[in-house]
Amino acid sequence: MLPFWIAPSILSADLARLGDDVARVLAAGADVVHFDVMDNHYVPNLTFGPMLCQALRNYGVTAPIDVHLMVEPVDSLVPQFAKAGASIITFHPEASRHVDRTLQLIKDEGCQAGLVFNPATPLSYLDYVLDKVDVILLMSVNPGFGGQSFIPATLDKLRQARQLIDQSGRPIRLEVDGGVKVDNIAAIAAAGADMFVAGSAIFSQPDYQQVITAMRTELAK
Ligand code: DX5
Ligand code: ZN
Repeated sequence: MLPFWIAPSILSADLARLGDDVARVLAAGADVVHFDVMDNHYVPNLTFGPMLCQALRNYGVTAPIDVHLMVEPVDSLVPQFAKAGASIITFHPEASRHVDRTLQLIKDEGCQAGLVFNPATPLSYLDYVLDKVDVILLMSVNPGFGGQSFIPATLDKLRQARQLIDQSGRPIRLEVDGGVKVDNIAAIAAAGADMFVAGSAIFSQPDYQQVITAMRTELAK
């Protein structure tokens, strides 16, 4: 297993003070910035693009930026986000006509590449591309909004993904996104996840350090 990573989703941050809020959450012990890109087409919501990613880099954010593309089509945004400072780029395979090509494009642009699985998307999309995947992201809510409840069937799917990763022998990250809280993070880790996106659970609290520390305490159990 890789070391646990906590990845606050800036979807729930104070967008009018984003630089400060991201700096605060990183100072509070977060490992990665989770950056949700929504296009009002693949998902029924609209967020932000490469300019904001670049703005965070210009502000001085040096932590990895995990760009979660909820967009269709995918490919045209990949070079733009790579140039804007993305570290990881994940996309939903059903939103790309050529999944293998998109994964290769992300890697050629110098980023880590990942596939994202909605609650009802089968893991079989991994069948012929696992060797090109650095991150498997399982959605534990339907994508589009923060603040939804964790779908329990994700735990079984995490166990299946964990098996695939262990069989591959490669250091693939297993990320989970949606409804992650202090009171369920231990069960999610026990099912095999090593990277935890949390938006509302962290940003709704006044003291980010307290939440992140509580999550780490749960993960150490
Ligand atoms: C949902 C996004 C998530 C979201 C998670 O489409 O991909 O990253 O921000 O938010 P919480 O942690 O509030 O469920
Ligand atoms: Zn996300």
